[in-house]
Amino acid sequence: MTTPQVADEVLAYYSTRFDEHARLASSAAGVLELVRTQELLRRYLPTAPARVLDVGGGPGAHARWLVEDGYRVHLVDPVERHVREAAGAGCTVEVGDARSLSAADASYDVVLLLGPLYHLPELPDRARVLAEALRVVRPGGLVVASGIQRFAALFDHAAHGRLHLDGREERSGRVLASGVNEGREFTFAYFHRAEELAAEVRGAGIDGARLYGVEGPGDSMLKAAEAATGLQVPQESDLFVSALAAARLAESHPELLVASSHLLVFGHRPGQAALS
Ligand SMILES: C[S@@+](CC[C@H](N)C(=O)[O-])C[C@H]1O[C@@H](n2cnc3c(N)ncnc32)[C@H](O)[C@@H]1O
Repeated sequence: MTTPQVADEVLAYYSTRFDEHARLASSAAGVLELVRTQELLRRYLPTAPARVLDVGGGPGAHARWLVEDGYRVHLVDPVERHVREAAGAGCTVEVGDARSLSAADASYDVVLLLGPLYHLPELPDRARVLAEALRVVRPGGLVVASGIQRFAALFDHAAHGRLHLDGREERSGRVLASGVNEGREFTFAYFHRAEELAAEVRGAGIDGARLYGVEGPGDSMLKAAEAATGLQVPQESDLFVSALAAARLAESHPELLVASSHLLVFGHRPGQAALS
């Protein structure tokens, strides 16, 4: 099998053009993503210390709190800058690609894929990522995959008041139709429809796949408030607390999945749970 290559555009974006390390702290929407991802993961994670493989873990935003919670975390990411930054999170780290993991078969209790699927526009690449996750997680182990929701860029540009500027309306129309983000905003990426992401995960053989919207309907309001004032909405503010409550309430209503920028799917490798 050929060694997969991450697109140069994606490597350049994270290596030089964008500071992923600051992303989840530098806006209220980022904080909401972190808080909601944490609470959803904590609902499903086995008791610590379980072995967690954080594939596409970036600079270690989730690895850091997982280590603090007592998990044994190994992080894999193709961007050397991210791997260097993640080394400070208390996990072990490795430069690598989600399509071809160095981990042994059934060697982890949990595999996180919070990034790789949305940077791979071709379905066979995403199928390879899910197959690798299933190979390295133990029977009965947890697989969690993240997708960017198809309509996320539309809401994001509208909330920032810039959809009608600089050709974004036309480019957003193309993203809505194909799911492929060309890279002018963000970077080379694929934005999933919710049911499509769930079908890919189920199609890979992951059991009991359950889909969640991460940020919920308050995401755009937070972005619009920050765009209008130039100030970050504080976590203690009524607007943030209300957005968090909206995300929790929306969970039981699949029609509201389109309101979230990120989707998370939780499922298990079929088979008997082994001792960790
Ligand atoms: C937006 S960041 C998310 C980082 C972190 N997991 C989080 O949720 O905050 C997406 C990450 O996916 C990584 N990535 C992109 N293509 C990948 C691939 N083929 N295999 C593994 N990781 C990949 C990027 O390098 C980047 O660190």
